[in-house]
Amino acid sequence: MLPVTALPLDELRARTSEKWREYPADVLPLFVAETDFPLAPAVKAALQRAIDIGDTGYIASRNPLAETFAAFAARRYGWAPEPARMRTTADVSMGIVEILRRVVQPGERVIVTPPVYPPFYDLVDEAGAEVVRVPLHDTGTAWELDLDGIRAAFEDGATAILLCNPHNPTGTVHDRDALTALAELADEFGAAVVSDEIHAPLAQPGTGFTPFLETGEAARRVGYAVVSASKAFNLAGLKCAIMVTADDRTSAIVRGLPVEVEWRTGQLGLLAAVAAFSEESEPWLDGLLRTLDENRVLLEDLLASRLPGARYRIPDAGYLAWIDLTALGWGDNPARRILKDAKVALHFGPAFGAEGAGHVRLNFGTSPEILTEAIDRIAALTDR
Ligand SMILES: Cc1ncc(COP(=O)(O)O)c(C=O)c1O
Repeated sequence: MLPVTALPLDELRARTSEKWREYPADVLPLFVAETDFPLAPAVKAALQRAIDIGDTGYIASRNPLAETFAAFAARRYGWAPEPARMRTTADVSMGIVEILRRVVQPGERVIVTPPVYPPFYDLVDEAGAEVVRVPLHDTGTAWELDLDGIRAAFEDGATAILLCNPHNPTGTVHDRDALTALAELADEFGAAVVSDEIHAPLAQPGTGFTPFLETGEAARRVGYAVVSASKAFNLAGLKCAIMVTADDRTSAIVRGLPVEVEWRTGQLGLLAAVAAFSEESEPWLDGLLRTLDENRVLLEDLLASRLPGARYRIPDAGYLAWIDLTALGWGDNPARRILKDAKVALHFGPAFGAEGAGHVRLNFGTSPEILTEAIDRIAALTDR
């Protein structure tokens, strides 16, 4: 299995997506969750074929995505979701909002676990609900779900939780015991668990990623998973995600969504996702995981040698690093100074919740050269 090599900067700058157009060309963009890798060969071939024959209409109601994802889940996670209990939509965010709209009444409360992917706050609001924050518990060496806090929030009337597993920004893969306990808690209170598993294909080997719906009866009763190939395969612009359920009641809720929710799935996104989740793409995905493993360790070495005030824990999954820069004394939002003076764009820590003060989120889904240059530029600020 060959590592997947990121493209060089001059080629990347020809891209016109958010990562490459938000900031001027002298800024190294390590903020938004897009990657700098070429497309997986099977994905590229599927898209090229579609372009060649003008296969750019609506998605077919009979399409192979659910079966393809089920086979991927069986191979990668030992999970056997049923294709008949899946529906597609445009993206994970839309899946979350549409499910929340059905399972939470207007004004009810939905738990989020900060620091967390900033749009979660907006998605709950978009669904007409209110956010209750139950921060992750920082043990000093890891982040964990605060199950006591979640119980208290359910006791206080919260009717759903929006879980992020693997967690953005910390890269935490929640363990089976915590997920099982969460499922049982939600079941006890009749609450829903919406599990965003967009980063799951990027869980590193040995970290034991467990799909929420695979943890047992209680999870199947209360859970909705939303998955996509978009983070691992860099397909966010193509618009395709899958909502997965595992029992009759939850499945009826997702089946009861307006047909338009499914029709908004992008045809190119669907074709790309089928190719991404197919067995043919697995060596590429394994190669990507190897590259990301090297990068997450390289980042640790770079920070230790060049920016020793930074605190970073190697993530279990993905290409996002959550870095505490409090000790550098650059204020609550160090990414502002880093952008202005070092010309490196990172995601603003406070956007993830109050727990993000003094933090930045860095995207290491790039080349070792760009990563090294970014840390060098940031480290140079400490000499000023
Ligand atoms: C945890 C998480 N959920 C959802 C999204 C957005 O996904 P989509 O573009 O499919 O809405 C992201 C994007 O980075 C993410 O990290």
